[in-house]
Amino acid sequence: MTDAPPAHSVEKFRDWRFGLFVHWGLYALPARHEWVKNREQLTDEDYQPYFDHFEPDLYDPAKWARAAREAGMKYAVLTTKHHEGFCLWDSEVSDYTVAKTAWGKDLVGPFVEACRAEGLGVGFYHSLIDWHHPEFPIDLVHPQRDDEEAIAKAAGRDIQVYADYLHAQTRELLTNYGPIDIMWFDFSYPGRKYPDGRDGHGKGRDDWRSVELMAMVRELQPDILINDRLDIPGDFVTPEQYQPDGPMQRDGVPVLWEACQTLNGSWGYDRDNLDWKSPELLVKMLIDSVSKDGNLLLNVGPTGRGEFDPRALATLADIGGWMRLHERSIRGARPSEYTPPVDARYTQKGNRLYLHLFSWPMGHVHLAGLGGKVKYAQLLNDASEIKRIENDPHRTAQNTTMGGVSADVLTLKLPIQKPNVLVPVIELFL
Ligand code: GLC
Repeated sequence: MTDAPPAHSVEKFRDWRFGLFVHWGLYALPARHEWVKNREQLTDEDYQPYFDHFEPDLYDPAKWARAAREAGMKYAVLTTKHHEGFCLWDSEVSDYTVAKTAWGKDLVGPFVEACRAEGLGVGFYHSLIDWHHPEFPIDLVHPQRDDEEAIAKAAGRDIQVYADYLHAQTRELLTNYGPIDIMWFDFSYPGRKYPDGRDGHGKGRDDWRSVELMAMVRELQPDILINDRLDIPGDFVTPEQYQPDGPMQRDGVPVLWEACQTLNGSWGYDRDNLDWKSPELLVKMLIDSVSKDGNLLLNVGPTGRGEFDPRALATLADIGGWMRLHERSIRGARPSEYTPPVDARYTQKGNRLYLHLFSWPMGHVHLAGLGGKVKYAQLLNDASEIKRIENDPHRTAQNTTMGGVSADVLTLKLPIQKPNVLVPVIELFL
């Protein structure tokens, strides 16, 4: 039903492996999750102060793009509009845009330029859902879902009028900013019901006119990749806030994928949320994704003043410190045919196999199936040799022989001290 994207776009996307997601909008001001309008069932009037006080005076996307590049990221995806409906560019078909705030200036153009200047690919996230548009019918995820009066007033809303708006805005975004690498629509929920079984007026492909929308995207940007949330298959799938347990598939066939993950469980800036993932955990998630042939899109929610807050910057810097030394086990790497030992992940690029040790073993690590197959081994962080033990007479352990190792196992002799990096990697030359 949907044409395949060009092979070179697929390859580029897969080689990138690591990207930045940016969730930015009016919700940065309440600073308590990007779903605040929904969660607290706020009306447009309740939400208006955030529009009135939007003043991102420290917005400098060159800084965002630099932080992303230094973290080892290769592309960045910005929310042009989230579910709240606020547009980060001067849309011709809406007044609910940054251009109509006191700030008054387009935010998308400078973002795109800054990314290009740092050599980053560019993607647009665009919400299908809209909690501000006057023709978007009230459904089970709408802030006014329990407001009988509002529901009665909204009875005549026509989703097709909204769909025209959605299409017009997508056209603007994909016409006005040069080549865009990724279109990331969010999200569909056809047939979704209330817990008590009532129809939730969920929305999907017929509401968005997804087939037509996707055709238009491809026409405007032939090299673009489109995600999978239009309720029709896209070019890549988007597991959210979990790590799949193996390469992702669609109908049994491997499919391009990208896990999207948060720093602290919220996508928008969430001031009091302390559920920050450690840099070590995030690096492990990146490795885990690549070992299963996926990408990681890691999110930062900038503040209302337009900055990445210090906690986000510190985390990105720590990840960047690891990436500086270990980039070659990630960038362009693919899964390996070999099965890694417990608590480890393999990635592979040609004849180089990368062993990522999630926990540091005592003295040795045993690699099944690699006996006699490795010509040289070294720690990736400092290129220091790692000794291999292959043949029996050498595989003695103090006065006895090592138990449980067969001839097809390669044993590596490790230092007792774990190298001082978030996740040590051993580079094996096959
Ligand atoms: C979701 C959420 C959301 C976030 C997104 C990222 O479906 O609604 O707030 O933007 O996914 O994957």
